Amino acid sequence: MTHRTLGIIIQNVSGWNLLPQTIDILPDGKEESAPQDRNDMILFSALCCLQHGAFFIGGTMRELIDKLRQTQVLAKEEWIKLIDGHSEASAQYLFAQARQVRCKIYGQDVYIRGLIEISNYCKNDCYYCGIRKSNKNAVRYRLMPEEILACVQNGYTLGFRTFVLQGGDDAFYTDELLAALILQIKKTHPDCAVTLSLGERSRESYRYLFSAGADRYLLRHETASQSHYAMLHPPVLSLAKRKECLFQLKEIGYQTGSGFMVGSPGQTAEELAEDLLFLKDLNPQMVGIGPFIPHHDTPFAGKPPGSVELTLFLIGLLRLMLPGALLPATTALGTLDPEGREKGILAGANVVMPNLSPVGARTKYTLYDHKLCTGAESAEHLEELKKRIQRIGYRVVTSRGDFIKQTDLNPEERKSSHVSV
Ligand code: 5AD
Repeated sequence: MTHRTLGIIIQNVSGWNLLPQTIDILPDGKEESAPQDRNDMILFSALCCLQHGAFFIGGTMRELIDKLRQTQVLAKEEWIKLIDGHSEASAQYLFAQARQVRCKIYGQDVYIRGLIEISNYCKNDCYYCGIRKSNKNAVRYRLMPEEILACVQNGYTLGFRTFVLQGGDDAFYTDELLAALILQIKKTHPDCAVTLSLGERSRESYRYLFSAGADRYLLRHETASQSHYAMLHPPVLSLAKRKECLFQLKEIGYQTGSGFMVGSPGQTAEELAEDLLFLKDLNPQMVGIGPFIPHHDTPFAGKPPGSVELTLFLIGLLRLMLPGALLPATTALGTLDPEGREKGILAGANVVMPNLSPVGARTKYTLYDHKLCTGAESAEHLEELKKRIQRIGYRVVTSRGDFIKQTDLNPEERKSSHVSV
C-alpha cells in the first residue's frame, strides 16, 4: 500500500485553511484516507482556530469585557491585558456587547455630519500630518466665508443638520471672522449644529465662539502619554496644553470630542491604556479614533499603518466605557478598509462624516496618503452611504444628532425625534 500526501482546503471560523492529509492508495487503486488522518485533520483544524483565537474566548477576556460593560471602568493593567489579548473571538464577543449598549441609547440610528475642510494652512509641525508647516509640497488653500456658507447650503439641501468646520491651525480665521460665520449659519439654519475642529485656541476664543452659537468642538488629544506625545510632536506642542484646552472646552459647555490615532509610531498597549484612562477622566461626548496612515512627505513616511482590527476593537471598548458617546466610523478606517465604515458601525460606532468640502479642496486636505474623499465618503453620494448602512441593519437619520446623556434616556421620545432619510 502506498501513501500520497495531499493538501485539502477547509473553511472554518478562522477562514480557509490548507490541511495536509495522507491518502492511502489501496491495492485495487482506490483511495482512502486513514482514520488517524481524519483525527489529525480535526485536531489541525482546531489548532488553526485556536491560533487565530477563533473558537475560544479566554475566560479572562470575557470577564474583563463583562466587567467593563457593567462598571464602565478598568484599571490600567486590565486595559493592557484586554488590548494585548485581543483576538477574533474576543472582538466578536465585545462587538455584540457594544451593539447592545449602543442600541439601548441610540437605537439603529447613524448620524451624519457634513465635513467642511476650511483650510490646510497650519502653523504646527506634527510629525505624522501631511499638512504640517514644513511640508513644502502641500498645495495650500483656504476657503472664504462665502464658500463655506455655500457648502453649508449644499449640505442642508442634501439632508445634513450638523456641519463640522475643520482646518489646520490657521491664524487667518480670527475670532471675529469665525463668530460672524457661525452667526450666519445659525441665522440661516437654526435647526443645525455647528462643530468646530480648529485646534488649540485661547479660553477666550473658545468662549467667544461658543457664545456665537458653536455647539461642539473636536480636538483629539492624539496620545495621553507624555513621552509618546513628544515622539509625535515638536517641542513647542505639549500634552499639558492639549489637555487644558479639552477641559476648558468641556467647562464652557461645548459637546467636546477627543481621540487618537491607532498604531501611531511608538504606540504600545500601555499608551493605548493611558488613552482610555484619560478619556474616562475627560468624559467627552465624542471620541474619534482611526488608524495611523503614513504620509509620504512627513518624517513618518516609512512607518507602517495602524491596524484596522485593533481600531475596531478599541471602538468596541470605547462604546462600553462611554456608553452614550458619539463615535464616528472615521475616514481613516474607510481608507484602509473598503468596508471600514460598516465594520466601525458594527463594532459600536454611530456617526459618519461625509466630505462636504468643495471638490477641488478635498485632494489638498491630505492628512495622510490615499485619504478617501469619493463614493460613500463624499456628501454627494449620500444615497450610496444610506444603502450601505441599511444593508448592515442600521439607518442614516437626519437630525442634529446630539449627545444623549444616559439619564436623559426616554426611548419613546427618542423614536419620535428622529426622521429617517
Ligand atoms: N494618519 C491618520 N490620522 C491622522 N491625522 C493626522 N494625520 C494623520 C495620519 N497620518 C488625524 C489626527 C488629527 C485628525 C484631524 O487627523 O488625529 O487630530
